[in-house]
Amino acid sequence: MKDILQELEDRRDIARQGGGQKRIDAQHSKGKLTARERIELLLDEGSFEEFDMFVAHRCTDFGMQDSRPPGDGVVTGWGTINGRMVYVFSQDFTVFGGSLSETHAQKICKIMDMAMQNGAPVIGLNDSGGARIQEGVASLAGYAEVFQKNIMASGVVPQISVIMGPCAGGAVYSPAMTDFIFMVKDSSYMFVTGPDVVKTVTNEVVTAEELGGASTHTKKSSVADAAFENDVEALTEVRRLVDFLPLNNRAKPPVRPFFDDVSRLEDSLDTLVPENPNTPYDMKELIQKVADEGDFYEIQEDYAKNIITGFVRLEGSTVGVVANQPMILAGCLDIDSSRKAARFVRFCDAFEIPILTFVDVPGFLPGTSQEYGGVIKHGAKLLFAYGEATVPKVTVITRKAYGGAYDVMASKHLRGDFNYAWPTAEIAVMGAKGATEILYRSELGDPEKIAQRTKDYEDRFANPFVAAEKGFIDEVIMPHSTRRRVCRAFASLRNKQLSNPWKKHDNIPL
Ligand code: HXC
Repeated sequence: MKDILQELEDRRDIARQGGGQKRIDAQHSKGKLTARERIELLLDEGSFEEFDMFVAHRCTDFGMQDSRPPGDGVVTGWGTINGRMVYVFSQDFTVFGGSLSETHAQKICKIMDMAMQNGAPVIGLNDSGGARIQEGVASLAGYAEVFQKNIMASGVVPQISVIMGPCAGGAVYSPAMTDFIFMVKDSSYMFVTGPDVVKTVTNEVVTAEELGGASTHTKKSSVADAAFENDVEALTEVRRLVDFLPLNNRAKPPVRPFFDDVSRLEDSLDTLVPENPNTPYDMKELIQKVADEGDFYEIQEDYAKNIITGFVRLEGSTVGVVANQPMILAGCLDIDSSRKAARFVRFCDAFEIPILTFVDVPGFLPGTSQEYGGVIKHGAKLLFAYGEATVPKVTVITRKAYGGAYDVMASKHLRGDFNYAWPTAEIAVMGAKGATEILYRSELGDPEKIAQRTKDYEDRFANPFVAAEKGFIDEVIMPHSTRRRVCRAFASLRNKQLSNPWKKHDNIPL
């Protein structure tokens, strides 16, 4: 009996060694942690329960039968983050470069099935040389099985990917279909074709970092949602993110203890909007002053900064925030900001996270590059996302809400539940100057007359009261009371029930 127990311990020891000490040292020398070290940091201490530690590949080509390390290059199982269950897989670069074989894929699929069945998020720690070259099409089949699970799990359980090493070729499409992608700076990259192929096909000379590093994907492509300095920081931030999310699409977002006064008044907000309507101000100040303890978890901070997206808590409950940022491009909507916000709104709606929208938007960005790039279709994504969302929606217009952008930004007409405006709000088809120039074109040669016309237009429309008279604004509120008003609004919506007509699925303009 003792021998059998010892054998289990011995086998476990071998599995825990992965590809051996030399490869573990090589991993460390690149500033990367091992698959198991990462899991230790991600999960609550001692909470990890492993599956399939002894699974080995079945390949017999290229001498593979002589090397069958237990675990086959991926560590899978479940554990907890601050006491809440998550499933995790962590690719082990020390075993065949973390490459994905048929059995490696089966291990990932197994925990994804369990996650969907038991209603808990899936976190994938990616560090892999891609398809296991020795296995050929069996490996490609494995990828496709994982892709199919990603698709089925989308909108059922949150899926989070952390890219902590190479992620290239078709392999990128598994993370791409998850809800959030985090990358580690300098040690991770994602691309469909690597620098060598790029050189051959397009003659461009580019490094792996330039082509698909963390900076590229958080600032240029928007493929990734955030970039972190190292493995430890990235994993700590995943823990923080998970704390905001519900475990599945049938669960409510978590309610955390909070130590902030729901009725806290912020007098400084009364002067946040500058006298001059063209002077910018930082919308993040408003978000932080409304949030519990000023805590704001921003998503896609470095991309399309003219719109801000992220999570806060109000009375301890998670709320998704979307806000125009007047500091960048005057807060206008364009292709990038519409796409960024639309995806965020859809995530919130899929997982029953209420949405708070702060509006200061002068309209859509004009220009050929926008029109040629399809701003009509991309802008429609945000419109569509807000309109289909059935979660509680509370909107506060702080200053400009012009034209189509007024409609798009969670207006009353898109089933906004509470549509508030500050006294500084200007709700109009367009700014006074532009409107006057169109309405009184014949008077353009007379500056005095035009100035008077502009003033008349401002007096009539540069306020929230015309919209309030029509009931499009439910209440004009004092800026200093925004936190109290917004918290009360969401509290009143806790039992909101709204559903859309039956359909197989909608046809959002992609
Ligand atoms: C099998 C692999 C492997 C792979 C790496 N290894 N990639 N084994 N299949 N795909 C092994 C290496 O042989 C080596 O084994 C160990 O992992 C570490 O690799 P190194 O090359 O020494 O590491 P490094 O210098 O850090 O380079 C990492 C790398 C490179 C850039 C990822 O290994 C590489 O280019 N690999 C091939 C990538 C690739 O072309 N993959 C297929 C892409 S197509 P030893 O025993 O020496 O430690 C694809 C399609 C997916 O993925 C399609 C989905 C639809």
